[in-house]
Amino acid sequence: MGLSILSICYVVASVTFILGLKMLSNPATARRGNLIAAGGMIIAIAGTIFLYENDGKRLGNYTWIFSAIIIGSVIGSLVAKKVKMTAMPELVSFFNGMGGACAALISIVEFDYLYRANRLMDATSFSDVVPSGHYLAIIAGTIIGSVSFIGSMIAWGKLSGKVKDYSFKGQHLFNLVVLFFVVAMAVYTYFSSTHHANIPFFITVALAILYGVFFVLPIGGADMPVVISLLNSFTGIAAACGGFLYDNKAMLTGGILVGAAGTLLTILMCRAMNRSLKNVLIGSFGGGAKAASDATSTHGNIKEISLSDAAMLMAYSKKVMIVPGYGLAVAQAQHTCHELEKALEEKGVEVKYAIHPVAGRMPGHMNVLLAEADVNYENLLEMDDANEEFKSTDVVLILGANDVVNPAAKNDPSSPIYGMPILEVELAKTVIVNKRSMKPGYAGIENQLFYQPKTSMLFGDAKKVLQELLAELKNM
Ligand code: TAP
Repeated sequence: MGLSILSICYVVASVTFILGLKMLSNPATARRGNLIAAGGMIIAIAGTIFLYENDGKRLGNYTWIFSAIIIGSVIGSLVAKKVKMTAMPELVSFFNGMGGACAALISIVEFDYLYRANRLMDATSFSDVVPSGHYLAIIAGTIIGSVSFIGSMIAWGKLSGKVKDYSFKGQHLFNLVVLFFVVAMAVYTYFSSTHHANIPFFITVALAILYGVFFVLPIGGADMPVVISLLNSFTGIAAACGGFLYDNKAMLTGGILVGAAGTLLTILMCRAMNRSLKNVLIGSFGGGAKAASDATSTHGNIKEISLSDAAMLMAYSKKVMIVPGYGLAVAQAQHTCHELEKALEEKGVEVKYAIHPVAGRMPGHMNVLLAEADVNYENLLEMDDANEEFKSTDVVLILGANDVVNPAAKNDPSSPIYGMPILEVELAKTVIVNKRSMKPGYAGIENQLFYQPKTSMLFGDAKKVLQELLAELKNM
């Protein structure tokens, strides 16, 4: 009876994961989707703790289990509440690393159990006592989970400035050799004697960790969101291996969903930047020393605009399009931006937002940021629609965005961002660019847009500039 109710719990949990994921695809339903999936996870966890039975025995160990749950929940909620929007990729990376570690530990515990149960047997090798499919799930979960854990920790260190990019000559070859030894040692473990199969197994774990470190270390810090998404899919696959090992449907479904979603997200992010995954993993786009130094060349003179002129220009426009970017998130200026939007609308101006798919530092960054400030979702235009509307736009106000409006992506084949789809802001009548200086953005390259005759620069921190623009508008 207990078992059948437990199976129902797992089915319910699996359904909520799928439903939650579907709802996450729209900002209007995302919050609810997240809660529904979390509710499903609580059902799966509670069901396992209270209903799981093996040989008529329940789990027990309640003090350990609940202590871990309480400590984890308190730390998790405090960290999640405190985190700034711009530090979100770091947090996601840290949480993903924890997921990878859990998935790896599940497989390691299962190996240890089988090893202890069989080590005194007179079988010739581990392969005589463990079916190959079962071993494959154990070793895949161990290797992929370990790589995901250590890789995510390095990514977290890089994004928080604690770990520097590091590479050496021949690193990619070195990585391939380490990967070869990981696989070789995993195969060797399976055919080793049951008496000491644990030794090659733990060497495999150590090699997988070494591989994870050198896989992520050379990748440019600014490319970390793509890598985190890839590692996220690894965690999903490792968790699915755990679900397979324990015949746990909820874990299997959850793992497969995370694995598939992470893979799709990686592909979409690469596509939106027009870069191959290989280029992300072994290229040096973004944050590289060379890219940064290239930014010192100039393309002519820039023109500045005063706050009052900018406010006037927008107030007397028919249509204003706001282009939010990473700088808006850094300045936490989303609420002031929404205030400005309302002030302009009160003056009869139509205001919309042009959202580039990779504006900011993680997928959907701008949508989440603006949703937090209660900006109407209907006013957010995706790139293709925005590019259509620029032709009929009077003023484009760019707030802390740079690469996503860089025309070099369209007309400079030597540019590292050549081919990346961009917001074609120069189709509008006037362009106002707010940033603090002439420094480049994520890709480390100069932006020709700033030197074009229809562009005016409005220097300053996005929040401060928006507050001052708002004051000007209110005084008009
Ligand atoms: P960026 O090109 O990084 O430009 C942001 C600009 O904001 C900078 O030029 C900076 O100039 C300015 N800024 C910083 N702090 C500011 C503040 N407090 N007030 C005003 N301006 C400020 O950003 P973007 O246009 O959003 O492009 C995103 C980039 O990230 C793309 O290259 C994309 O490929 C990459 N990327 C995105 C993702 C995802 S999935 N979204 C993942 C990985 C990489 P100043 O320093 O002069 O102020």
